[in-house]
Amino acid sequence: MNAPATLLEAKQLTRHYLVSQGWFKPKATVRALDGVSFTLTPGKTLAVVGESGCGKSTLARQVTMIEAPSGGELRMGGVNVADADGAERKRIRPLVQMVFQNPYASLNPRKKVGAMLEEPLIINTALTKSERVAKAQAMMAKVGLRPEHFGRYPHMFSGGQRQRIAIARALMLDPKVIVADEPVSALDVSIQAQVLNLLMDIQDASGVAYLFISHNLSVVEHIADEVLVMYLGKTVEHGGKQQIFSRPLHPYTKALLASTPRIDPALRQQKIILRGELPSPLAPPPGCAFSNRCPHAVDRCREIVPTLQSFEDRLVACHRVSEIA
Ligand SMILES: Nc1ncnc2c1ncn2[C@@H]1O[C@H](COP(=O)(O)OP(=O)(O)O)[C@@H](O)[C@H]1O
Ligand SMILES: [Mg+2]
Repeated sequence: MNAPATLLEAKQLTRHYLVSQGWFKPKATVRALDGVSFTLTPGKTLAVVGESGCGKSTLARQVTMIEAPSGGELRMGGVNVADADGAERKRIRPLVQMVFQNPYASLNPRKKVGAMLEEPLIINTALTKSERVAKAQAMMAKVGLRPEHFGRYPHMFSGGQRQRIAIARALMLDPKVIVADEPVSALDVSIQAQVLNLLMDIQDASGVAYLFISHNLSVVEHIADEVLVMYLGKTVEHGGKQQIFSRPLHPYTKALLASTPRIDPALRQQKIILRGELPSPLAPPPGCAFSNRCPHAVDRCREIVPTLQSFEDRLVACHRVSEIA
């Protein structure tokens, strides 16, 4: 069997921000994203998980080309995005689309649903008005909206329906990749599964790849093929969903999973309580960034930054992985 084609590749993707610390003080560097690598393949979902502030949305903004990374490489279909000229960028950009967390803020309140769905076609294609309308209506049916919704405004919809509209809009240009940044976190729990199932049906039908960002591991367990766990801008563990959920190795992944309710008692983890807060990315601890909260930390962990290395069936960044495995 051939290895699945890589759609998108991130190599040591990095984004630092310079932030002001007040008058007369030098600017400080926030290492929001600090060397994250992965590939996305057709029809598969890579979930990125981690606490609020660990750099997930920053990653999303680099992958969707909303911002230019300060280091590393983003390759789309083999092309290095940083090297692409204007015409090439114009071709590449629509291939990656985004669905945001808050469907109340991400839809223009003054635009009717139909106009919102037609908009990307007006900008990027030469389709006629009637072709655009037909395509928008077909897309509405695909995401479970009714034909009469075409002429309605966003405020007439519930959160779940608004997220369906946002998903439809993201799909209008037949993207290869959808970056979904906490797409169900703002929705009622009863609606979350419907939207997740819709996303999975769309993937089955179209082969789109998802970069699915979430702080909620129960949601990730539902939708992911692969899981990448981030801590303070870096990958701490990356592997298959089954492997990570059934046997987390990094102490941070263990702690995250231990704080997630599990139905299967065999999968309930020994409780590791996450002590303390995520350190400021302005002043990360020396050595392993997790060392100040880690129950296994020894001197080495507080002095030397662990590298992400392959261990058994996955990648882990932990000095003590073979001892605690
Ligand atoms: N434009 C920016 N300027 C300065 N700091 C930023 C900017 N965007 C994000 N950050 C900082 O980068 C870190 C990661 O943020 P973010 O990517 O939003 O995390 P997450 O989505 O995981 O909650 C945070 O400390 C945040 O304050
Ligand atoms: Mg975020």
